Amino acid sequence: MNIQFRQVASFIIVATFVVVLLGLGIRDEAKSVATILTDSLEDSRTSSKRPNFPQYIQMTSLSSEDLALERPGRRIIIIGDVHGMNNSMHDILSKLHYDSSRDLLIHVGDILAKGTLEGSLAVLSYMTSNNVTGVRGNHDQKVIEWRAWLEQVLAHKGGQAWLEEMERKSQDELKIYAKKGKGKGWKKIPKGWKMLEDHYMIAKSMYPDQYKYLISLPLVIHAPSLHSFIVHAGMLPLDPHRSISNSRQPLSHIPSLSDKLKAPNITALREAQELSLLSEVPQNLDPWVLLNIRGVLNNNEVTRSTSDGNPWSDLWTTVLDRCRGFDGALTLEDVEDASSNLKPKLPCHPSTIVYGHAAARGLDIKRWSMGLDTGCVYQRKLTALIIGPENSGDGSLETQSIKFGESRKARVVSIKC
Ligand SMILES: *[C@@H]1O[C@H](CO)[C@@H](O)[C@H](O)[C@H]1NC(C)=O
Ligand SMILES: *[C@@H]1O[C@H](CO)[C@@H](O)[C@H](O)[C@H]1NC(C)=O
Ligand SMILES: *[C@@H]1O[C@H](CO)[C@@H](O)[C@H](O)[C@H]1NC(C)=O
Repeated sequence: MNIQFRQVASFIIVATFVVVLLGLGIRDEAKSVATILTDSLEDSRTSSKRPNFPQYIQMTSLSSEDLALERPGRRIIIIGDVHGMNNSMHDILSKLHYDSSRDLLIHVGDILAKGTLEGSLAVLSYMTSNNVTGVRGNHDQKVIEWRAWLEQVLAHKGGQAWLEEMERKSQDELKIYAKKGKGKGWKKIPKGWKMLEDHYMIAKSMYPDQYKYLISLPLVIHAPSLHSFIVHAGMLPLDPHRSISNSRQPLSHIPSLSDKLKAPNITALREAQELSLLSEVPQNLDPWVLLNIRGVLNNNEVTRSTSDGNPWSDLWTTVLDRCRGFDGALTLEDVEDASSNLKPKLPCHPSTIVYGHAAARGLDIKRWSMGLDTGCVYQRKLTALIIGPENSGDGSLETQSIKFGESRKARVVSIKC
């Protein structure tokens, strides 16, 4: 992605975050984010008035009222990467006897692209008309950015004619066009973008309400009552450049709440610590990481490669396994002990991540992370994770029971694509 877009984007995302955190009155978090904000402001000043193509929304919350798990028969169904596989998506939903008035359907992003254009548009139409809850994937993101670019071009006099001229060019001609920034002002294709490929075609074909739906998808969904996150690619539990006991790691200390919250209880502390994973681990503030991460390299940098480095979910599970709660007055030595691997202890409670994006690894269920991309678009499988009561439909499906969070059970079902 273009560096300048990322700078503008990170400014917007951080600004949104500061507003959210100030709104919650969690001042300590806001303070450290404010430092990052200052840096980003500098960046956005130098990058002048670039349009906001990415239109990121950092996070939305699903409250326990939204989840409504106490309702009779209510299930939360989280589906893996659909990639325009319309028939498979309808197949799994019908085999589960999915009922939108009873169940809550959530997707982990990458609902679009790689499959056929017709399939992507059919999936997008379904998701939009049912306002299905979900997060953005890296492919959905590309579609959003193409549409924003298209609208910007079409807003100029002569934009339509210029687009038509571009569409008549071959990929090779376009490549040169994009690389050299040939043309002046708005008449250029952003560096590294490939016109006429599936993201472009979807962006061009979708209806305004479908575009609006895509923009409404956040990078992360936080469900505090489930102590869970849903994110397309992944998140880090700490900054791998610092030691696990460094005071800047959100899980190295009990979070401090603003004095407005008089008697901090476990619920409030856990929510604050979960939010600080998003606002204080610097990698998690970068939209590119949430949309693309697959692993962590030996030099502690993140990567989207599956073959280099270690899966980020290994780090997540190893660190979250060390959580020993807020009681029992952990001393600094206890925390430091954690890095010795002898008696691991961290002053935290575990959180669970549900994600997609890693088809090469397939179904990847670990104690605190659940990877659901089983490569439907590669004729493999489409997978759903189900929280809630077992239901008549599930019987005919390949089902695996798993633990979800500290005390819940969930099921994972897959169908052939
Ligand atoms: C998508 O799937 C639904 C249900 O199977 C079907 O009714 C619809 O025609 C499909 N759309 C396309 C474009 O294939
Ligand atoms: C879709 O759902 C979201 C979250 O529940 C809500 O904020 C939004 O208003 C809904 N959009 C439409 C078009 O109904
Ligand atoms: C925990 O604290 C929060 C914030 O002060 C409050 O809203 C909530 O009702 C408290 N919960 C319990 C179980 O005391």
